[in-house]
Amino acid sequence: MKILLATEKPFAKKAVDGIREIVENAGYELKLLEKYTEKSELREALADVDAVIIRSDKIKAEEVEAAKNLKIVVRAGAGYDNVDLEACSARGIVVMNTPGQNSNAVAELAIGMMIFMARNQYTPGTGSEINGKKLGIHAYGNVGRLVGKYGKAMGMDVYAYDPFITDAAYFEADGVKKVDSVEELYATSDYVSIHIPATEQTKNSINYALLNRMPKGATIVNTARKEVVNEAELAQLLAEREDMKYATDIAPAILDELKEKFGKRVFSTPKKMGAETMEANINAALAAARQIVDYFVNGNTRFQVNK
Ligand code: 3PG
Repeated sequence: MKILLATEKPFAKKAVDGIREIVENAGYELKLLEKYTEKSELREALADVDAVIIRSDKIKAEEVEAAKNLKIVVRAGAGYDNVDLEACSARGIVVMNTPGQNSNAVAELAIGMMIFMARNQYTPGTGSEINGKKLGIHAYGNVGRLVGKYGKAMGMDVYAYDPFITDAAYFEADGVKKVDSVEELYATSDYVSIHIPATEQTKNSINYALLNRMPKGATIVNTARKEVVNEAELAQLLAEREDMKYATDIAPAILDELKEKFGKRVFSTPKKMGAETMEANINAALAAARQIVDYFVNGNTRFQVNK
């Protein structure tokens, strides 16, 4: 069996070494494609492999077509919007993610970004504190739950909305208040931390009308996906609401325009860094390798997302 590790944004060496050990101990061969710049390199590398481990690397219909022996794709991470599930399913290719493995890293970054924005991006001038502020968690999954926990530790009053969790007791057990609608969440929160996946339903769903419900001085922190925010409407909002700020870990398509117009009220990391910790790299990488071996050896499909 040949396993490809294809990462345009490579894992730390320790994580790659860990993958190699798991793969080779199982009697398989590891093929490495890192920091590639052309899609054609990925397609060529896919041509003779049985499995592939990726991060945000795109596996679309063309890649599936090029990967004649491919049986399994494991996205080492949470979001799998970069994989064409339909194209994979049509070929009987199993797609998995590694949920929870990099959540802590993303949650820590979200809290860090709140403080960074509250303190004028660490530039001179009077900032504010996050203690005592209302934090709204938009979707209470692995990352959202941790952001809530850390927000509480910082003295924030934490609210959450999740369309798939209706039991208030689930939130209450964490000391978090459930709100019944996304509109109420935004209307309540001084900080909203976004944790929804990018799907056909969620794309552009965070729009002017929703954001404009936020109270004076509010900040939006996006460590999820840029696609969930309607960028044109975000620009309109920031123009009308000089009190509001936007921090994101996924550079908006209109970043230059936003930075030029709104200066330090907007911040974007240069390259998505939510999962860029040694711990998260190792957790996600090793889980991905183990899931592949477990699939080939035992047929385990627990983390399959295209069932
Ligand atoms: C995820 O979905 O797991 C995160 O967005 C991390 O993505 P990355 O592996 O490309 O950094």
